[in-house]
Amino acid sequence: MSPSEKKQTYATVIEQVKALLADETDMIANMANVASLLHESFGFWWTGFYRVEGEQLVLGPFQGPLACTRIPYGRGVCGTSWQRRQTVVVPDVEQFPGHIACSSESRSEIVVPVFAGNAVHADATCAADRQVVAVLDIDSRYLATFDDTDRCALEQIAEILAISY
Ligand code: SME
Repeated sequence: MSPSEKKQTYATVIEQVKALLADETDMIANMANVASLLHESFGFWWTGFYRVEGEQLVLGPFQGPLACTRIPYGRGVCGTSWQRRQTVVVPDVEQFPGHIACSSESRSEIVVPVFAGNAVHADATCAADRQVVAVLDIDSRYLATFDDTDRCALEQIAEILAISY
């Protein structure tokens, strides 16, 4: 997919996510539809969510092969994104210390934190106080799949999800 096709596909997906989530507040249902939409639109290897439960991430709605069910805080790419409260882009999973290999097919990865609450609402919690409630994890079978276009679009999708949390 060319860079311009990728941007156009994300623009379409973001509009679909907004429409899908407009009348639904159940986070599991929303995560399930977002995972499906991204997976089908881009043909990723694995697309899904891990939800924060105490000191662990627990597998949530996903599309793709079986995955690890629990990831401790600070472990792997997912636990690192949770700990740093930032998106983590991994061009080559073999070069990421502590990467958790749920599938040997995965070659590159992006993990985006999902925060609770609405960042733009008048009574929004300050950004630093917003809780990470989940992470969106996407794996590719190809090296260096994810760039700033993915980061920007997926962070927007995470914010749309946050509003419904
Ligand atoms: N690779 C992830 C684990 C989750 S799977 O990719 C679905 C990690 O290192 O946290």
